[in-house]
Amino acid sequence: MMDFKALPKIELHAHLSGSISRECLHDVWVEKKKRGETDLRDPLEEMPVGKFDYNLETFFPLFSKYIYALCNDLSSLIYTTNAVLKDFEADGVVYLELRTTPRAIPSANISKDIYVHTILTCISAFNTTSHSMKANLILSIDRRNDADTAMQVVDLALAHSTVGVDLCGDPAVGDISIFAPAFARARESGLKITLHFAEAPQSSTPAELWTLLGFKPDRIGHVINVPGDVKAEIIKRGLGLELCLSCNVHAKMITGSYGDHHFGWWRGTGCPIILSTDDVGVFGSSLSNEYALIAEHFGLDREEICTLARGAIDTIFGSEEDKQRLREMIWK
Ligand code: IMP
Ligand code: ZN
Repeated sequence: MMDFKALPKIELHAHLSGSISRECLHDVWVEKKKRGETDLRDPLEEMPVGKFDYNLETFFPLFSKYIYALCNDLSSLIYTTNAVLKDFEADGVVYLELRTTPRAIPSANISKDIYVHTILTCISAFNTTSHSMKANLILSIDRRNDADTAMQVVDLALAHSTVGVDLCGDPAVGDISIFAPAFARARESGLKITLHFAEAPQSSTPAELWTLLGFKPDRIGHVINVPGDVKAEIIKRGLGLELCLSCNVHAKMITGSYGDHHFGWWRGTGCPIILSTDDVGVFGSSLSNEYALIAEHFGLDREEICTLARGAIDTIFGSEEDKQRLREMIWK
């Protein structure tokens, strides 16, 4: 396989808590264990190295029952966020839009506001010291949220000047139509919008997909189970598509394997495609590996890979200055 670590890359679909490596979670666990602060199992036992077969039933509880219980204070939030930023940088990512769901941790006196402030402080410090990677933050609304909680996420995004908002969470739950006011406010206030879209059959009814398109997203993620008329609308709008190859294969969200991925369908439609990792800590495939898999299974040569990488530039939620920097950096 070709190696794309040296290729300057853009990552736009990465969930903070899902991007923490097992080794990093283990470090956090060791420190807590020393202080007698945790009864949780060692992350290396809970998520053995080489285990990537999380599906939509086992994936979400991994966060709600385990990762959130481990990363539950200021020091673990800071440690893991810094590690995630360094890991992306080490893989040759030059621009990262990290997303996270604001989470209050009452046991540690952390409000959602403090949570977001803490992550942003790590990002700002990173941006001032890193020479190769710039990061921005997107805040996620969880499908389980009620309308007020969703609006609170938008308020936090505005108060902290993050670049956009996302809709994520278990596709088997929730009525997404209740989020219309939150996304309307986001759009009117100048925030960019990305949505998890047609991720699982349950979340891919025509009613849901047309409602989501009504939120006027700038980008959509996964885009798996899409009926023909919705595909036509996506192409007409030229929406940026965040495609997550390994995640979809490991979680069996698509039938078949890498070569059967809907990347093959969407390439050539004119929609910019942004290869993304989703949850590199869980699915174990770095962004450079995602590029290598695409090159291998879809026969892209070096030039086509560079064109793909450059195609992400205009879809970022960052500034014109961010885009200009990337135009100069990413190989032709
Ligand atoms: P966090 O938002 O930083 O806590 O990252 C983990 C959260 O992201 C999970 O609890 C999920 O709600 C969400 N998430 C991660 N991957 C996916 C996905 O593939 N689909 C939908 N939601 C996801
Ligand atoms: Zn995702």
